Amino acid sequence: MSENSCNINDKGKSCCSTSANTNTATNLQEHWNNAYLNSPEEKLGWFETDLTPTLNLVTKTNLNKSARILNVGAGSTTLIDELIKLGYTDLIASDLSEVALEKLKNRIKSTKVDYLVDDLTKSTKLTKIENVDLWIDRAVLHFFTKNNEQDAYFELLKSKVTKNGFVILAEYNLDGATVCAGLPVYRYSKDMLVEKLGREFELLESFEYMYYMPSGAKRPYIYTLFVKKGQ
Ligand SMILES: C[S@@+](CC[C@H](N)C(=O)[O-])C[C@H]1O[C@@H](n2cnc3c(N)ncnc32)[C@H](O)[C@@H]1O
Repeated sequence: MSENSCNINDKGKSCCSTSANTNTATNLQEHWNNAYLNSPEEKLGWFETDLTPTLNLVTKTNLNKSARILNVGAGSTTLIDELIKLGYTDLIASDLSEVALEKLKNRIKSTKVDYLVDDLTKSTKLTKIENVDLWIDRAVLHFFTKNNEQDAYFELLKSKVTKNGFVILAEYNLDGATVCAGLPVYRYSKDMLVEKLGREFELLESFEYMYYMPSGAKRPYIYTLFVKKGQ
């Protein structure tokens, strides 16, 4: 196994590889649970110490602190800690991995956050929540490589973001790696995201961002902020 490849059983190693993992997980939920079980959070290949790119876009929405904010595929991200520090009071963290959300919940210990274990490509719980003012996705959508998964994701997003609400999507860009966490990824340009969101949404801002993994490896992202048009 190369140094960059992902062995989710290899404790302490940074896990966001350049080659696909073909032999471990029997299903995706187990795959992600194992990733969170087998590595300290700060060694995960997607762990961020600098959340400025996302937080700057959140600030640009000018939403008030009681806005309903959904972080999909939140994992155990410290973005939730930062949003609480900034005064936001109505947060939802969802993920396929109950292990990740349990870690997040145990760390945060806040009544301002609801936790939902749900599959974004086959949602049974997020479909039932009230609409949200802001949908945040960092490094989740790019794992949906099949048309039907992408369609389900965007259908859910479009149905759950309120009119005049916002969407932040931060995904591997076209120069990014083709594999992450042992899984193939589908990379995006700004224009591809514009097309996926369609005419109901207007692009407000986009920028390229170089993320450095805990191992020091570079992973280029595209960040976008959209607003859902009113009537
Ligand atoms: C690379 S991690 C990013 C986590 C977090 N957004 C961050 O930036 O730290 C991808 C996350 O997506 C979650 N995920 C993968 N497939 C999913 C699905 N089908 N539905 C919901 N979450 C999913 C994983 O469990 C994992 O927590």
